Amino acid sequence: MDSGKTQTTRWHPFADERTLQAAAVESIVASARQAIRDRGSFHIVLAGGRTPRGVYERLAATRSDWASWFVYFGDERCLPVSDPERNSTMAAESWLNHVGIPVAQVHGIPAECDPLEAARNYAQILSRVGDFDFVLLGLGEDGHTASLFPGHALGESPEAPDVLAVFDAPKPPPQRVSLSAHRLGRARNVIFLVSGESKRRSVAAWRAGEQIPATAIVPRSGVDVLLESALLE
Ligand code: 6PG
Repeated sequence: MDSGKTQTTRWHPFADERTLQAAAVESIVASARQAIRDRGSFHIVLAGGRTPRGVYERLAATRSDWASWFVYFGDERCLPVSDPERNSTMAAESWLNHVGIPVAQVHGIPAECDPLEAARNYAQILSRVGDFDFVLLGLGEDGHTASLFPGHALGESPEAPDVLAVFDAPKPPPQRVSLSAHRLGRARNVIFLVSGESKRRSVAAWRAGEQIPATAIVPRSGVDVLLESALLE
């Protein structure tokens, strides 16, 4: 059952991945400055996969009031803690290990344990967090986002759990933990980072109005899709 709400989608084409990454960093840093000024803290959810690495590397080279940043993950792969294929490992190596965000303010998903237990544990952590200030998401070739896959529970309704255990993900590894579509949509800013020829079909489906997991993310303020302009041709 979908939430019945329709996503407001703003498309932002960029000539190449480099300019896309620079724009994403600019948006994140500006949003952080505003949130810290208004509320004294900045709560951001990170995307996994390959695409965001360049954004994280650029963030490592920027200056910000890191002590006021609070980091969460949109999803995690059920792998050992320091496995190179974990989303937390990529974020740490490309960014978090290089800036002064207090370790206690970086909330990794404990996906090294049983997915159901990890989902319960992370939902507990999120129960103490209000709407996120910023959510970064990727887009898969099949239209998935985070670890919300076509034909699987997306957690779109307000009654859905904040965090879902995934056992048969089509993108390896099969076991994952993901924030629900509803929880990912409880955010002031939601940005999708989309690059690579392999995303052409899912972008076309999205723009044609098809329901894909990415369209299940329906924040009040809409979503911004930063993508390579070649994917619109
Ligand atoms: C993951 C991500 C996943 C990713 C998309 C895009 O664990 O793989 O959460 O949702 O964002 O699959 O992946 P790429 O950026 O590698 O194309």
